[in-house]
Amino acid sequence: MPERRNRPSFLLNASRDRKGAVPWGLARPARVSSPVSDPSTPKFDRAMLDLAARLAVRAGGYVEPNPLVGCVITKDARIIGLGHHKRFGGLHAEREALADCARRNGSPHGSTAYVTLEPCTHTGKQPPCTDALIEAGVARVVFARPDAADQSRGGCEVLRAAGIRVECSDASESAWRLAEPWAKRVRTKAEGLELPWVIAKWAQTIDGRIATRTGESQWISSEHSRRRVHRLRARVDAILTGLGTVLADDPMLTARGVRRTRRTPRRVIADTHLETPLDCALVRTAREVPTSIACAKELATAAITADKRRALEAAGVELLPVAMGARSIDLRDLLHQLATRHDATNILIESGPGLLGGLFEADLVDEAMVYIAPMLLADASAKAAAHGRVVPSLTQARPLRLLRAKRIGDDVELAYRRG
Ligand SMILES: NC(=O)c1ccc[n+]([C@@H]2O[C@H](COP(=O)([O-])OP(=O)(O)OC[C@H]3O[C@@H](n4cnc5c(N)ncnc54)[C@H](OP(=O)(O)O)[C@@H]3O)[C@@H](O)[C@H]2O)c1
Repeated sequence: MPERRNRPSFLLNASRDRKGAVPWGLARPARVSSPVSDPSTPKFDRAMLDLAARLAVRAGGYVEPNPLVGCVITKDARIIGLGHHKRFGGLHAEREALADCARRNGSPHGSTAYVTLEPCTHTGKQPPCTDALIEAGVARVVFARPDAADQSRGGCEVLRAAGIRVECSDASESAWRLAEPWAKRVRTKAEGLELPWVIAKWAQTIDGRIATRTGESQWISSEHSRRRVHRLRARVDAILTGLGTVLADDPMLTARGVRRTRRTPRRVIADTHLETPLDCALVRTAREVPTSIACAKELATAAITADKRRALEAAGVELLPVAMGARSIDLRDLLHQLATRHDATNILIESGPGLLGGLFEADLVDEAMVYIAPMLLADASAKAAAHGRVVPSLTQARPLRLLRAKRIGDDVELAYRRG
């Protein structure tokens, strides 16, 4: 492949980085396919921010509740340093990239730093990134997303006061999207009800059915697609399912066959009336894998459920008392509790149409991962992906935006964001 051999070394490195890049919802940054040699163009900004995003996305599941952040340092249209925030508590992307400059014997003096998030100004587990950029003599900083957090924002002003040219660029959508789960927690917390980022995942037939009329759904998608879901499970904080799925499928909801397990997600069952069977797989394995049952607040103390509660707690299950909604538990309150009690940033929904419909109805889904398998049921009584809404006209349809479509063998994986 002569074209590939002719690519400059930084592009080859970037391609190699893609091997470990995550396959889930985040839009894969556009590939840097040819050297963009004029650093004064928006195309160059976009290529560098895309590359920074591509680096950062590799740390999904390692850095949360911190944001994913990547940084590329360039000088005279050449990349002299690459870095990303790799682990919670570890060096921030800017310091990683500056350290990379030192390793490559390149001086960052007079350079441009491309960062996916505005450099922070505060001392947390690491000192301010603004100090590092100023001390290194960086001349220009381009970032994709302003810092939303009270304690760390203001990097732009600090850098400008030190004589650095600073620009907030909208050239790279993938760089901007990178920190969305973190930004949602920060924003909703400031508004008074902190919420995690919600990823709904389901597998369906071509005609949009997720189970037969008898409730059979194992398996609609291929083994390859399911392996990708296990990788997704291995980087989220919690997996939420509904009582209906527990009764129909008795799932384990663990990340199996994953080479690098980033975190062990808490398994959560939405079960208003505490009807989860004691002998289901989730309860039986609650000592090994964190497991919660979210039930109506009233039932968490009622005498009528005392025996069931004792048995569940003895099995290692945590009970999450949740406020009641119209018919079942209030899903917003449940998600809020997962963010505040369990520090959850990313929640994966693996449920049937009942719970999914409730989440869509309450507008709580941020992202959807849909696997379409090459089969057709053509049975009006087979189960649809979500139900519960009354939608007499298309103008009332919930809009979603397609971010990515990928062929997985004979299946198709579609990634959507809230429209
Ligand atoms: N193909 C796929 O990707 C896939 C994935 C998962 C499941 N499935 C299939 O889906 C079917 C089960 O679907 P399902 O609808 O019965 O189960 P579900 O969506 O997993 O669970 C529904 C239950 O969640 C509880 N819930 C609690 N709070 C809720 C709220 N605010 N809104 C809505 N529900 C709430 C309700 O019980 P309470 O009111 O008692 O709390 C409700 O009955 C099975 O056939 C399964 O195989 C398919």
